[in-house]
Amino acid sequence: MKIFDSHAHYNDDKFDDDRETLLLERLADYVIMNVGADIKSSMEGIELAHKYNHIYASVGVHPHYAEGVTDEDIELLKQLATKDKVMAIGEIGLDFYYDHSPRDVQRSCFKKQLAVAKELKMPVIIHSRDACQETFDILKEANVSDGVIHCFSGSKELALEYIKRGFHIGIGGALTFKNARKTVDVVREIPLDRILLETDAPYLAPVPYRGKRNDSSFLVHVIQKIAEIKGISSDIVATQTFSNARRLYRISNL
Ligand code: NI
Repeated sequence: MKIFDSHAHYNDDKFDDDRETLLLERLADYVIMNVGADIKSSMEGIELAHKYNHIYASVGVHPHYAEGVTDEDIELLKQLATKDKVMAIGEIGLDFYYDHSPRDVQRSCFKKQLAVAKELKMPVIIHSRDACQETFDILKEANVSDGVIHCFSGSKELALEYIKRGFHIGIGGALTFKNARKTVDVVREIPLDRILLETDAPYLAPVPYRGKRNDSSFLVHVIQKIAEIKGISSDIVATQTFSNARRLYRISNL
């Protein structure tokens, strides 16, 4: 069973002790998109992608780190985006739950990065928390519809609106949590060919590992849950989501 983890952070220091063994042994058969959250982690992701065959990278500034981002940083990001094996811009968006950066700064940083993605014709990886409608409106206004809404936590109606516009929906460990009724509804409603599997590793480990360090091998629990909700086999879930991620990230040689 070939599995594509469309969103992980293997540059995170929680992997410092065993990154190499983990990636080369337990995760050797997985294809992984390592997602950037600021300039530094974006550069680290590119290094990982250049070191390991089965890793690709995205570059972007997460809304948490939007404050202090200069136009030179955006220019640098644009250069990084053209490097080999960089396939997407992300994660970018709005986070009004933590509000680590002022909201107007988040909006402006988000819009500038959407412009980069459009210019380079690259898909986007969207982070949105407690900012459902505004994220949707900004994407609509920017006329961006090529991407994935990461760790989707909205309603099934919103999921269907995103899909209608061309987006994919990222589903991860949160689907297995006890309070996941809304996400279960989303998975039931949306077509399998728009679902991407994601870990957000090292965060959001699925049940029965909730609270522990997450890695791509735990995706089997998410796959099983999607299979159960949709009444299909785990094999079909893995195969279809693999091909969805490959299509969205334009990876031809897999
Ligand atoms: Ni993430």
